[in-house]
Amino acid sequence: MLTQDLLFNVLVLHGPNLNLLGQREPGIYGMVTLDEINRLLVAEGVKLQAKVHHIQSNHEGALVDAVQEAGKEYQGILINPGAYTHTSIALRDAIAGVKIPTVEVHLSNIYQREAFRHHSYIAPVAIGQISGFGAESYRLGLEALIYHLKNQTKA
Ligand code: DQA
Repeated sequence: MLTQDLLFNVLVLHGPNLNLLGQREPGIYGMVTLDEINRLLVAEGVKLQAKVHHIQSNHEGALVDAVQEAGKEYQGILINPGAYTHTSIALRDAIAGVKIPTVEVHLSNIYQREAFRHHSYIAPVAIGQISGFGAESYRLGLEALIYHLKNQTKA
């Protein structure tokens, strides 16, 4: 497939502590590293006709800036907001504000874990959420996002 066949630009946003994947609580998050996830998503993106760009930040404001700036360049956002899932009204408002279709993903099943992880500020402004499949959550999330974008384009 040639690069010009790529239909969509997708921004993958990884929130705090996800840079530690591979060494961080492997019993919960597995051994996969963030680099491996990013490589998988870029390759999967090509199959799905999407160019995948990725950013990781431990800072809430940097994630808000990235969402705001995404409006200029990207048709969709795939986000694992990490702990900001459960705390950040600012990130939720940014996603609601730019109106870019956004899929929320989590490696772990947040509903099987501590009660404070059961609430997501992001879920109501996302088109959907995938939680509990390890690195596969990201791949499934990308597939779901592209499926949504392709159907939106047809409508
Ligand atoms: C996480 C779940 C969050 O509760 C946690 O704070 C994370 C990772 C996940 O991918 O399972 O940092 O988003």
